[in-house]
Amino acid sequence: MSTSVSMIGVTGSTGALGGRVARRLAARGLRQRLIVRDLGRAQRFAGAEVAQAAYEDRVAMKVALDGVQTLFLVSGWGAERVKQHYSAIDAAVAAGVERIVYTSFLGAAPMATFTHAREHYLTEQRIRASGLEYTFLRPSFYLDRAARWFSAEGVIQGPAGNGTIAWVSRDDIADVAVEVLVGSGHGGASYDITGDRALTLAEAAEEFSRVTGLPAAYRTETIEEARASRMRYNPSEWDLEAWVSTYVAIATGELSVVSHTVQALTGHAPQTFADYFRQHPESYEHVTAGRI
Ligand SMILES: NC(=O)c1ccc[n+]([C@@H]2O[C@H](COP(=O)([O-])OP(=O)(O)OC[C@H]3O[C@@H](n4cnc5c(N)ncnc54)[C@H](OP(=O)(O)O)[C@@H]3O)[C@@H](O)[C@H]2O)c1
Repeated sequence: MSTSVSMIGVTGSTGALGGRVARRLAARGLRQRLIVRDLGRAQRFAGAEVAQAAYEDRVAMKVALDGVQTLFLVSGWGAERVKQHYSAIDAAVAAGVERIVYTSFLGAAPMATFTHAREHYLTEQRIRASGLEYTFLRPSFYLDRAARWFSAEGVIQGPAGNGTIAWVSRDDIADVAVEVLVGSGHGGASYDITGDRALTLAEAAEEFSRVTGLPAAYRTETIEEARASRMRYNPSEWDLEAWVSTYVAIATGELSVVSHTVQALTGHAPQTFADYFRQHPESYEHVTAGRI
């Protein structure tokens, strides 16, 4: 169902998810304003205006959001991002935005095991407190990045135990986002967005191997081993905590949710783990390379 939304503010359009959303909105002939950090990297779409602002620049965000009714707020990255989100939300209130659709994360909660899900919870709380209408999109981990969980040798390792996860593609998340942005009746809703089946990492390795023909395996680690094995990449503490807690969150069962959101809101089934790898051999080139 269409609403009277006349201007949608889209953040993150220079990135993978926001870019997909902007393209879909343009294909529907909708008006949108792309809010980008770097004008030189803004994509050009019919019906799209462009404005420059970073989340943390509240004044520029307020100017960029002038006349916007619905804001698609894509979460940022890094240890400072909660503050940046707060700034963007405050700017939206000051600019008279009516509704925020925010890309949160599955199981966003104050005590979530995955550290990023706690940050998403804080952002959600700020949006709830803003008084604006809101919808939270809570996707699982990106299927598009699942191949990157495998090393060059085809090993997926971490303290995930026998927990499960239902990766979801960015295309499916973008399809859901667009339905929410252009539709009505989503106020106050939080939508878990997942693939069709939750896999243990051992099952994921098996499925990966079956589809790609490459040997793959899951190797479980303790939390201490996981921290140690990742130290060679010299991650920041923020990255390390997120990385390791990703697997622990799987072990706890917090990521084993399988939702019907993609089917219910878009009318199509979510892309499956196997289909994704069949269609995107480039996503596991590093594993292939490791085998040569
Ligand atoms: N569910 C998952 O598996 C998963 C995985 C990774 C990330 N994420 C989260 O989902 C978000 C979107 O995913 P994605 O794949 O589209 O990420 P992406 O390709 O890195 O795009 C992020 C977008 O957000 C913009 N952005 C970041 N910080 C900003 C700020 N302070 N002010 C204004 N714009 C800012 C970026 O602008 P620039 O182009 O100027 O940098 C870019 O357009 C990520 O940012 C991250 O929070 C989720």
